[in-house]
Amino acid sequence: MLVDRFKRNLTYLRVSITDRCNLRCYYCMPKRGISQKDRTEILSYEEIYQFIKTASNMGINKVRLTGGEPLIRKDICKLISMIASIPAIKDLALTTNGILLAKYAAKLKKTGLNRVNISLDSLKPERYKKITCGGNISDVLAGIKAAKKAGLSPVKINCVILRGVNDDEKDDFLEFGRENGVEIQFIQKMSLDKSKPALDESHVSTRPPDCRICNRLRLTADGFLKPCLLSDDEINIRNYNYAEAIKEAVARKPKQGNRCLKRPMILIGG
Ligand code: 5AD
Ligand code: SF4
Repeated sequence: MLVDRFKRNLTYLRVSITDRCNLRCYYCMPKRGISQKDRTEILSYEEIYQFIKTASNMGINKVRLTGGEPLIRKDICKLISMIASIPAIKDLALTTNGILLAKYAAKLKKTGLNRVNISLDSLKPERYKKITCGGNISDVLAGIKAAKKAGLSPVKINCVILRGVNDDEKDDFLEFGRENGVEIQFIQKMSLDKSKPALDESHVSTRPPDCRICNRLRLTADGFLKPCLLSDDEINIRNYNYAEAIKEAVARKPKQGNRCLKRPMILIGG
């Protein structure tokens, strides 16, 4: 078991598998874009697999793959089947923008993915296009259908509520959820710096989670283990054996975070 100084039992590992994305939601991607990491810095599937295997032996039983956009990484299904082969991983999930999901849903399910969260911030095509800087909502809608059909379960929709942008659509989302058999999670737009709170923090939401019950560690695509989303502290897993890196992250997990200035959201994966 991975129990930290504040008696929190860490069972959940979020793994960003790419720093790239096929959309650029304005609240996620910095205005100037990001300088993409050199391919050699990005963890290979073998490294990700070995890391998760080590973590699973120590108490991690839930893994979520994020990005960037995880489905743009080549041979994603190969990674899914590698992780699904680890017996201690009881729950394997993926967070995607859904653009490529229609193409992959059935195969993802077959190779061992349990469930998906799909990001969708508007049901209006024009508005969706604006928020994502060019995305086509019909791709996402087809992805949601395909995920349901493939038996990925549950299918959840992540909707970041943005004041003055989409906060008039809450009821429409709830109805969309009922009609399509998907669960809607309203998410409050988060700032990675608590001293500069995002404007929208009055909205009811399921996130950010309560630090007192946080059970997470995060691994970035370039191999840094973050004890906390809202902290710049990170451990380069390539400088340790993986078990030591995990022990170190658990020992360094703060009671609560304050700010992460080193990396924008797209490099952490939410
Ligand atoms: N605040 C809240 N959620 C965010 N996401 C990306 N950036 C932010 C932010 N600043 C969400 C996306 C997606 C998930 C990966 O994280 O909408 O659902
Ligand atoms: Fe891409 Fe998701 Fe960030 Fe939008 S929120 S730019 S889809 S990673």
